[in-house]
Amino acid sequence: MSANQIDPNVVRIFDTTLRDGEQSPGATLRSAEKMEIARQLAKLGVDIIEAGFPAASPDDLAAVQRIAREVGTADGPIIAGLARAKEHDIRTCWEGVKFAAKPRIHTFLGTSDIHLKYQTGLSRAEALEVVRNMVTLARSLCEDVEFSPMDAGRTDPGFLVEVCAMAIACGATTINVPDTVGYTIPAEHGAMFEMLIAETPGGGADSGIIWSAHCHNDLGLATANTLAAISAGARQVEVTINGIGERAGNTSLEEVVMAIETRKPYYNLRTHINTREIMKTSKMVSNYTGLAVQVNKAVVGKNAFAHEAGIHQDGMLKHASTYEIMKPEDVGLDRSKLVLGKHSGRHALKARLQELGFAIEGDLLNKVFERFKVLADAKKNITDADLVALMSDEGAKPVEYFKLVDMQVVCGTMGMPTATMKVLDQEGHEIIHAAVGVGPVDACYRAVDGIVKAPCVLTEYAVHAVTEGIDALGEVTVSIQAPDSDRTFSGSGADPDIVVSSVRAYLSALNRMIAAMGHGDVQPEGEAAAVSVGD
Ligand code: KIV
Ligand code: ZN
Repeated sequence: MSANQIDPNVVRIFDTTLRDGEQSPGATLRSAEKMEIARQLAKLGVDIIEAGFPAASPDDLAAVQRIAREVGTADGPIIAGLARAKEHDIRTCWEGVKFAAKPRIHTFLGTSDIHLKYQTGLSRAEALEVVRNMVTLARSLCEDVEFSPMDAGRTDPGFLVEVCAMAIACGATTINVPDTVGYTIPAEHGAMFEMLIAETPGGGADSGIIWSAHCHNDLGLATANTLAAISAGARQVEVTINGIGERAGNTSLEEVVMAIETRKPYYNLRTHINTREIMKTSKMVSNYTGLAVQVNKAVVGKNAFAHEAGIHQDGMLKHASTYEIMKPEDVGLDRSKLVLGKHSGRHALKARLQELGFAIEGDLLNKVFERFKVLADAKKNITDADLVALMSDEGAKPVEYFKLVDMQVVCGTMGMPTATMKVLDQEGHEIIHAAVGVGPVDACYRAVDGIVKAPCVLTEYAVHAVTEGIDALGEVTVSIQAPDSDRTFSGSGADPDIVVSSVRAYLSALNRMIAAMGHGDVQPEGEAAAVSVGD
């Protein structure tokens, strides 16, 4: 499908994190960081990346050129650059985007009376002439031209129609309608799009023109306004990751995309976004810009999938759909977090303890639950460390189905890293197994797998120094996922030798998985074998 053929069921995602997003107070991105974000946006599946404002500085131009060359490949996204409706900006923009397989020039001019009077000093007639000349120039350089009447939300509707019609007549293929100062409200915003699509000469529903929404969040309405525009026929939305942008920010990509996904029967629309890449992209943008995501931010906030109230946790353990409208896996998270606190119930505590390797029931569970409630009154969030401390205090220990006795690893530059593992099983048998891997840790994990025989997928491996210096204790944490299940189990191990820490961490995660779920020959101890987490 060419740039100008519209699939009426697809909403194009125009990501402006690297342009409007970078205009967030306090956010500056280095060139290498922009490149990485652009690559990740392509992986996320955005249709258009607005890579920057090339006329703003030589650095901006260089960044846009690099993104155009390296990310704007034939099967990659359209690469757009922003340009004021000025000849120098438009020509510089072209110098930036022309290296992309699918380049776009995005030019804009303020059209509200306020902008005309105080910013450009142009009359309406003069503004129309600027649009005519500059869109014509842009189109002479590039086939794909987007025009934005800036501050459209406060522009006289009749004049807005005239300006859009002029841009279309001069070759613009996308008309973006910015609510630059976040002034409009959803019903009004939807009506504006309906009016523009119905009344703009050359811009009707069958014209091939793509109408685009660009909202700012000054009144917290950016997502609602964008969705109203979509309902009224907009088929491109300009968004940023985490909603970063000028002042209160832009419409956030993840909110609009997940609204379309979650309410598919309502919208009957789709995007090209691979939603499982959302979380990763959000974290990358937050790390590189230094702009933290608020904990209760929809979709990507730390608490977006956390449930604390006891009744919610109980419902979640019985069936996730009781309190969850999206699956955390769909946005790239492992699973919702049950935050243990004073509102948590017995089921939630039991489930978490099982994941930590403590399969408890009956009196012991009651006793621990009472102590947990006392602790939760004094402390808002109960961590895993608190629970482990509580359990050891009660004399309970995580069940160690398999215990490391000795290990030996041979590795180096000659290839074939080999590990030999001696492990004690629950019946007191010493089992020895050796394996070869691509590196020492891989060899060890293969050797452990040969003994434990509990299939799982390693989903996370991290190592960090607990103390400073050459003799630092290296702590390894791992997460594994149980087969045919979305449950993950973590384990950690510390030792001055990080390969030994790695094995301890892996074995502790495996022991937890076995305690909670059992596998093959090994079943969880006591009653727990017959008790599922959903009880
Ligand atoms: O908010 C706005 O009006 C803009 C334009 C430059 C598109 O960001
Ligand atoms: Zn903007």
